[in-house]
Amino acid sequence: MTEFNIKKKLVLLNSFLLFFVSCKTLEKNSIQGAVVSAREEASKIGVEILKKGGNAFDAMVATSFALTVVFPNAGNITGGGFMVYRTLKGDIGSLDYRETAPLSSSEKMYLDEQGEANKDLSRTGGLAVGIPGSVAGILEVHEKMGSLPLKDLIQPSIELAKRGFVVTEKQAQSLNNKRDEFIKVNGKNTFYGKIFNSGDTIKNPNLAKALNEISKHGNKGFYEGWVAESMVKKINKTGGNVSLEDFRSYEPKWRSPIVFYYKDLKVISMGPPSSGGICLAQMMKMVEPYNIGDLKYKSHKALHLMIEAERRSYADRSFFLGDPDFVSIPKYHLISSDYLSERMLNYNPLLASKSSDISYGDIVVVESDETTHFSILDSFGNAVSVTTTLNGSYGSKVFVDEIGVFMNNEMDDFSSKPGSPNMFGLIGGKANSIKPKKRMLSSMTPTIVERNGKLFLILGTPGGSTIITSVFQTILNAYEYKMGIQESIDAPRFHHQWVPDSVRFEPNFKNVNELKRLKLLGHHFDLEKSKLIGRVDAIMVDKNGKISVGADKRGDDSAQTY
Ligand code: DON
Repeated sequence: MTEFNIKKKLVLLNSFLLFFVSCKTLEKNSIQGAVVSAREEASKIGVEILKKGGNAFDAMVATSFALTVVFPNAGNITGGGFMVYRTLKGDIGSLDYRETAPLSSSEKMYLDEQGEANKDLSRTGGLAVGIPGSVAGILEVHEKMGSLPLKDLIQPSIELAKRGFVVTEKQAQSLNNKRDEFIKVNGKNTFYGKIFNSGDTIKNPNLAKALNEISKHGNKGFYEGWVAESMVKKINKTGGNVSLEDFRSYEPKWRSPIVFYYKDLKVISMGPPSSGGICLAQMMKMVEPYNIGDLKYKSHKALHLMIEAERRSYADRSFFLGDPDFVSIPKYHLISSDYLSERMLNYNPLLASKSSDISYGDIVVVESDETTHFSILDSFGNAVSVTTTLNGSYGSKVFVDEIGVFMNNEMDDFSSKPGSPNMFGLIGGKANSIKPKKRMLSSMTPTIVERNGKLFLILGTPGGSTIITSVFQTILNAYEYKMGIQESIDAPRFHHQWVPDSVRFEPNFKNVNELKRLKLLGHHFDLEKSKLIGRVDAIMVDKNGKISVGADKRGDDSAQTY
């Protein structure tokens, strides 16, 4: 069945199954539906929609707009994202609403006279901005899969923007850290140019106006008219070169998700232009033959195996992956068991491989910023997994006053020069070079997992290049190490991305003896450089149908249920 027929059938099935499913769920479980997102206000708005009889897709729309208001570093109408879904009947699909390169863009647009990539230009200011896909994507979800009127889904966010939201401690820190950059790009009177304290209230009437315009006019309210004009003007004033035509011609795309099997799991994840699904498939299938569940959790043997799989997968990422509308990607080959066992032929359980033997380079990771993920399950059994981003924290820092939001800096996810790392230290090749209207390669990995044909997990995370490894490790924690969902999320993470040839560990990764043994195998790491990795928001359904939720304590994330 195509995505486009699903809505009608969903509505019918929903009404037939509502009574039956709710009773059945209630028997086993007090939770009927859940929204887990980066902020309590957004999760609450999403859950209210579920309570009113909306489905998971309606809640996706409402939660997306709410995150734009309360989580300005990553929640957005001016960035892009991906949604993976699984309906109550087990139909699956995915929507790509990733940003595109402007019509004026070109392969060498960030190179200076010496032919070196100018990182500032692809990260800060108008030239870093990709054409936003979020509004078109959210409205596409509503049109094809939603059941409640659009205005009912946006209105709570309009009211929230007018009423204001309360700044948390982490948020005050995050805003204050970027204050100088906001002022540099937008001038000293800019909206977020003051010093914030936790407990302050931020009201954003201009964002309320923009949301109202979308509520009234749909896509035209964002991609045409005064909202689009204000974005074009500000992007170009801060160094960019975009036109109204760029905005008018943006289109989201339904794509087949990446589907693969691991033991009795069926994993459904995002395909290109995200690398998430392919790399997750590679990592899981590379470790599958070794029965990792038999290796002690966090033992050097288990870590070594996972690190070696991660290393090999990130090497493939940079050679093969890009926008499938522009480059041909051998996606079935890349995730086939034959190819992956060949990839592991040189795996030695007693010795770390060297990334330089797999390929080249010694490159330093510069910084990690913000994206946001949310997971939704409705009482009908529809599952929605969404990851969306402005790329860096507060994107390009270009703030459009008229609509109260920052523009993305997603252009940095292209490889502006083969071999030159982006802000996550990821190296891209020709496949991810810049071309007008092309989508930049992503690591976002919104994922849904079935066990024996039944919904098991809905999960995803921010974290740039570390997204894929965080999803990989959370699934293994839940499945192989039989942890509950909160425990799977709380567990300390680690990350290897081929280049640089070093492992990153979270600060609470305290197995000193195992880490010593890992070093003896030849792995490189510096625990002084430890920092937090990812913020996974997930929902788990156990074998008896019992639903549990996990919000990552690394952020202000919140799980709301009913
Ligand atoms: O699409 C990507 O892979 C990146 N733009 C995601 C950025 C991100 O996760 C930043 N968050 N921590």
